[in-house]
Amino acid sequence: MKNLLKWIGIAFGGLVGLLVLASVVLYVIGSARLNKTHEIQLENIAILTSESAITRGQHLVEVLTFCQACHGDNLEGEVFIDESIIATVYAPNLTSGQGGVGAIYTDADYVGAIRHGVNPEARGLMIMHSDVFHNLSQEDLGAVIAYTKSLVISVFSLGLEAFISVDLLQKMEESRKEFKDSPPDSRIRNEF
Ligand code: HEC
Repeated sequence: MKNLLKWIGIAFGGLVGLLVLASVVLYVIGSARLNKTHEIQLENIAILTSESAITRGQHLVEVLTFCQACHGDNLEGEVFIDESIIATVYAPNLTSGQGGVGAIYTDADYVGAIRHGVNPEARGLMIMHSDVFHNLSQEDLGAVIAYTKSLVISVFSLGLEAFISVDLLQKMEESRKEFKDSPPDSRIRNEF
């Protein structure tokens, strides 16, 4: 009986050890993939500041491209996933106010994030829906950026924090890979 218990103990300990090892390996592989950078030739899009460009951008954002569904009604940022144990993910403040990406982003950074789903360090964003926006015409993308930048809303503390399973993040990142590394397809145009 004692022997049996001993062997059960050893088997259980071995199993736990294996699980820990597997998690560490998955974490290391996952982190390496998430830290992968994408080489993208970003277009130089002229961002107009005219009233008409901003109005066109507002139309695209509010009616067709749904940025506000994730980034908040006025693009001031919003908690996007709130599952404390698994993940807290913020869709950041996109405006030029304090705490907003507009305060630090260059125009090219906006193009990278919206069209290609990469951040200014060229790392892949995880949830951002760039697949939908990948083939926006330059004029429309420029208008979306013009409108976003024209807003000034200060919200602090909305950065991206993800305590999410690395494996899940990796899958989300990879599912959008083709949009990160390719130029927009001029044959396909998302015209609105
Ligand atoms: C399905 C939800 C969703 C939609 C729709 C969406 N976003 Fe995002 N976006 C996110 C999330 C979440 C992030 C945080 C980073 C990530 O995805 O890992 C993000 C990140 C960004 C960033 C990068 C911010 C940073 O921290 O570097 C920009 C810029 C951005 N979004 C702009 C837009 C614009 C403009 C639109 C509409 C054309 C839009 N997003 C639509 C969810 C969304």
